[in-house]
Amino acid sequence: MRKLDACARWEIAIIGAALPRPRFATLRGMNANPFSGELAGRRIVLGLTGGAACFKAAELCRLLVKSGATVQVVMTEAACQFITPVAMQALSGQPVYTSQWDARPDNNMAHINLSRAADAIVVAPASADFIAQLAQGRAAELLPLLCLARPAERVPLLLAPSMNREMWAHPATQRNVVQALRDGTQVLGVAWGEQACGETGDGRMLEAPELLEELIAVFAPKALAGQRVLITAGPTFEAIDPVRGITNRSSGKMGFAIARAAREAGAEVTLVAGPVSLPTPRGVERIDVVSALNMREAVMGCAQDAHIFIATAAVADWRPAQEAEHKIKKDGSGEVPRMDFVENPDILAEVAHGARAQAGELFCVGFAAESENLQANAQAKRARKGVPLLVANIGPATFGRDDNALLLVDDEGVTELPHASKRVLAQQLVDEIARRVSGWSA
Ligand code: CTP
Repeated sequence: MRKLDACARWEIAIIGAALPRPRFATLRGMNANPFSGELAGRRIVLGLTGGAACFKAAELCRLLVKSGATVQVVMTEAACQFITPVAMQALSGQPVYTSQWDARPDNNMAHINLSRAADAIVVAPASADFIAQLAQGRAAELLPLLCLARPAERVPLLLAPSMNREMWAHPATQRNVVQALRDGTQVLGVAWGEQACGETGDGRMLEAPELLEELIAVFAPKALAGQRVLITAGPTFEAIDPVRGITNRSSGKMGFAIARAAREAGAEVTLVAGPVSLPTPRGVERIDVVSALNMREAVMGCAQDAHIFIATAAVADWRPAQEAEHKIKKDGSGEVPRMDFVENPDILAEVAHGARAQAGELFCVGFAAESENLQANAQAKRARKGVPLLVANIGPATFGRDDNALLLVDDEGVTELPHASKRVLAQQLVDEIARRVSGWSA
């Protein structure tokens, strides 16, 4: 379990242009490729420099193309030692550029043409030498040259460093990374782990799907910039004895999708997650909990600093009054054990009735998983919980699935978010919340 005081750190730097996000409300292929269509119409320059991680760039190229992007690969001389331009051309479907003296462009200015045509440039892998060149504004090859020539206010530059742990830790590299950050470059990673050289430590390039997630985030409008968002997700588990407990069918998928969308929208996100095995969205602070009491403790610790609280968790209403110290055994008499329950605290109601929410400093959003009379139950629940916005859905129709439909109930009335993937619904909900928060006070 993560330390609860981790949520006190709200220091995630959000770098990246606030460009319009393409909408892809298609349900087709929703399960086949989670990123399908997310980069439709985007033109990405994928730069490769010398490093063993070039093989991951091949996978990244494929993922970018599958996400709908047009990918223009540019390789340094060193990169060509690790992977061939032929392979990258086959994967990207575009001729690869390797030289600033490439005579194909009519004007013979590949660095200008490529940087002007790009919506973003991602260099993966970015070697120590390449980062040093960037930091010093040197441009001995086409790739650093086009990075230098890019219109920085319009074309974000993302680096995915990859190098040996000693090279990464070297003060010169660290100085260069800081300089690159100061110059408006976004640095993704690095990861810790086993390296191609056989050593273990920091310096591994992020995996291709992680880089894709970061690139998609760059293009999202920053509707929640400066907001700290606290989210609960998943079920809780109320122990009966050391091996049994009471839980429910919540998968946590909606809450995790909202956490990702909120982070993409520029928020600093803390996700308090019940027992689920979903991967943590990139850039999100996660606190794992088990029971409703654990969840309450985590939430109360973080609610002091949050601006928005979104309670998607399916919290158990009751827990066994006593957790048996040892497994409850059958004694052969056929007698069924009796169990007393106590009510769990209502986390959302407690936060919503707290001083910060009442003072208009914390905007609370509740969820309602109903099985019938959606609108009427949602309106009643909204009043009972004391939240400005309640999001209702049919629980049995959505638990564990990748799609859903939502009904938003607030002072404005009822807003329907029709059937779509949870990814799309999460983006729409974040937009709806951002709109309400910007004009909201208690
Ligand atoms: N909730 C909470 N703490 C609880 C119970 C619910 O924070 N102990 C939150 C949920 O995260 C959700 C909202 O309250 O945002 C509604 O949860 P739901 O289970 O639908 O409603 P209940 O309050 O449990 O009411 P009922 O079971 O009677 O429908």
